[in-house]
Amino acid sequence: MKISVIKSDLEHLGTDLLALPFSHDSLKNEAEKTLSTLGLDIQVLKDFKAEAGEVVVLYGGGKKHTPARIALLGVGEGKKLDEWRKAAISFASKAVEMKLEKIAVDCSGIETVAASAGQSVATLAAALVEGCGAGAYRFDRLKSGKLDKKNSTEKKPKKIEELLIRADAGMVEEIEKGVAEGKIVASCQKMARDLVNLPGNYLQAEDISKGAVESGKKHGYDVTVFHKKEIESLGMGGLLAVNKGSVHPPTFTVLDYKPKGETKLVVALVGKGVTFDSGGISLKPSENMGEMKSDMSGAASVLGTLEAVARLGLPLHVIGLIPATDNMPSGTAQTPGDVITTYSGITVEVGNTDAEGRLILADALTYAKEKYKPDVIIDVATLTGACIVALGYPVAGLFSNNDKLAEEIFQAGQQTGEKVWRLPLWEVYDEQIKSDVADVNNTGGRGAGSVTAAKFLEKFIDGHEKWAHIDIAGPSFLPKSSGKVSGGTGFGVSLLVEVLKKWC
Ligand code: BES
Ligand code: ZN
Ligand code: ZN
Repeated sequence: MKISVIKSDLEHLGTDLLALPFSHDSLKNEAEKTLSTLGLDIQVLKDFKAEAGEVVVLYGGGKKHTPARIALLGVGEGKKLDEWRKAAISFASKAVEMKLEKIAVDCSGIETVAASAGQSVATLAAALVEGCGAGAYRFDRLKSGKLDKKNSTEKKPKKIEELLIRADAGMVEEIEKGVAEGKIVASCQKMARDLVNLPGNYLQAEDISKGAVESGKKHGYDVTVFHKKEIESLGMGGLLAVNKGSVHPPTFTVLDYKPKGETKLVVALVGKGVTFDSGGISLKPSENMGEMKSDMSGAASVLGTLEAVARLGLPLHVIGLIPATDNMPSGTAQTPGDVITTYSGITVEVGNTDAEGRLILADALTYAKEKYKPDVIIDVATLTGACIVALGYPVAGLFSNNDKLAEEIFQAGQQTGEKVWRLPLWEVYDEQIKSDVADVNNTGGRGAGSVTAAKFLEKFIDGHEKWAHIDIAGPSFLPKSSGKVSGGTGFGVSLLVEVLKKWC
């Protein structure tokens, strides 16, 4: 999507749909006048409430050059970035449904709005662009179009080609700065969503690694891929155990972004890359099993975040670590009761082969701590169904052994709308993952499934004092029944970029 910032009066804006954002306040104070000036019927204001994300499309502006369609766009109180992002998502999504090609948002007066929201104009513009990118996203690369109706004479565009942002003269530069940033985050989020949406027969461990190598080449960061032989030499017993049932070799990908100048912090980001999780010998029920193609969402967010960090040129040393494999049943697969030795040397009784994510993350966490001595470690994983039971689809579970880090991630969630809620890591939960035969069991029984999973991971950070685990099982993938655009969401990219930006 091409994005341009322009100074133009409303009447000369060549666009298929122009959005006029209204907050509750501006709805009260300005809407009547604005609509009358454009020759539009003010009766619509009986129903339009300017709730964040509310869109009403109006036709028939009386003036000669008024855009053919005007969208009243609600931003709620208009005081939170999240409201603007939500509004932008609805707006772009509506435009895609209407098959429109060129859309515009009126950002005159953005300075006042930004001031009342306590944000810079650039940040607000970035949120708008990010939202438009997210709302315009559709996953259609596996559609051939062969069954589409042939008799339709009208060739409708499939996607939005251009977004115009109408700005006051003095604001153009500042808005352009925000647009540039928003475009980067939106494009990295799109990459993450594409990876999540690709099914197992299109995306195996090697493909994740290839994607990382390509991104590294293009955006100037180092990528090293460990293949099966090297993973064996390193003794990554968790990753190898999960891979035992597969015909596809595992990979362990290290993405390493070092800024040119001084580095403020070393941050390790670890992402679960299970390309398809059948459960293994502890096979999952078949209903909705296809959604488990999204079990590499953590890997996708880490890859998306690394690319974004490199393109934004943040002054941090950021390392991404992605253990990847599928989890399949077969005669060679690991079986419940097996005892494996992880990279750390810690032995694990495999109580359930479906608790595979923690096995591959265990190796990656220890490797991250040992090799890079990072100041901070954050892992992102679609780790437990129990997290969806606890917090539902919209919110991720957050676990951390550091209150300050937990608060920073929580605040970033509030800013970006990628919400997280902290759950405890109390010692009492250790009882549930004790094993009679090994150092620890990979399952913890019925209660507090996401906590026992996090307690398991904690054993592999080797006493690191600034670690967080984000369980994105809920928000990484929206089921078809959610009423929104289903599939991968790219959850984590915006959140992690926000956390990292705050540390710069
Ligand atoms: N990948 C799943 C978790 C998951 C479930 C993600 C639903 C997204 C949606 C994970 O590997 C898993 O299967 N976890 C088990 C753990 C259990 C066997 C201890 C679970 O949550 O049921
Ligand atoms: Zn599983
Ligand atoms: Zn899994």
